[in-house]
Amino acid sequence: MTPKKPGHLLEIIDEDVQSVNAFATRLKKLSNSSKAKDASGDGNNQSKRRKLQDGEVNVEEKEPHHDIMEGISKEDFRQYHKAKDRVRNFYKEQHEMQTVAYNLQARVNYKTKTRAKMTIWEALCRLSKLIDDSDPDTELSQIDHAIQTAEAIRKDGKPRWMQLVGLVHDLGKILYFFDSEGQWDVVGDTFPIGCQFAKENIFHEFFEGNPDNSHPIYSTKYGMYEPKCGLNSILISWGHDEYMYYIAKSQSTLDEKALAMIRYHSFYPWHREGAYRYLMNEKDYQLLEVVQDFNKYDLYSKSTQKYDLNELEPYYKELIDEYFPNKYVEF
Ligand SMILES: [Fe+2]
Ligand SMILES: [Fe+2]
Repeated sequence: MTPKKPGHLLEIIDEDVQSVNAFATRLKKLSNSSKAKDASGDGNNQSKRRKLQDGEVNVEEKEPHHDIMEGISKEDFRQYHKAKDRVRNFYKEQHEMQTVAYNLQARVNYKTKTRAKMTIWEALCRLSKLIDDSDPDTELSQIDHAIQTAEAIRKDGKPRWMQLVGLVHDLGKILYFFDSEGQWDVVGDTFPIGCQFAKENIFHEFFEGNPDNSHPIYSTKYGMYEPKCGLNSILISWGHDEYMYYIAKSQSTLDEKALAMIRYHSFYPWHREGAYRYLMNEKDYQLLEVVQDFNKYDLYSKSTQKYDLNELEPYYKELIDEYFPNKYVEF
């Protein structure tokens, strides 16, 4: 599975994978200078949560009041220190296995084949068999979570495109039934690959087992990236977010904001903990607000309430048709 020559693999990926193409140049540059580079340089980041700078968004202060938050205590969610063994075990494996080499190979795999062709609704139904091992907040199936999220957005009077994002944001988890290697390359919080793993990542200690953590370039603060290069230019750990982002980008009419919600919704160290600001460009600050707005519905709609799928099916099928012009989507 591990590619021996990532440079060669990059060449066979389509040009529309912009971020991957950008790596080809950077990897070449870095491989020339890697021996001279001091791995201990500015990568020695001791931050817990640093002060926000001008123009940055403070999640706690900026979060507007919405119905979704009524009667909800944030402390009831993402309590990883109380997490069950399945969650801890999941993150140990995920943090050790998500490497640059794996991520390049995963993107090659994605671009070079179609795993299935089906309607969005059929794909959602397949997810009814999946319970996410990384999630400490729900043991409901994924189709229930999709409907809960979409219904919460709908009840708050948000636009139809955002309701659709709620419905499909986790649809990439269907990857689990195709060619994933487990749940570690499908679910869980996401984080940049190819640069230092920020302390704000949950279960940060598990990165010690990741080979990139002692790599002379990848273990430094910026790793293979330039300061403020923009999130679109970095490799985010492979999983359902990236996978669904590529599907929605190429096969739906969803716009940039909607795509950002899909792509970054699991990037908790960034949108919730304030990490990785040094990789953001100006546009990313706008997208951050959008992703934070979406996150409320993704996270706080998790409850034991189950909706009647038969009742809601006609509404959501019509919504799907509005944004996915082709009935059958390539997964
Ligand atoms: Fe997700
Ligand atoms: Fe979700």
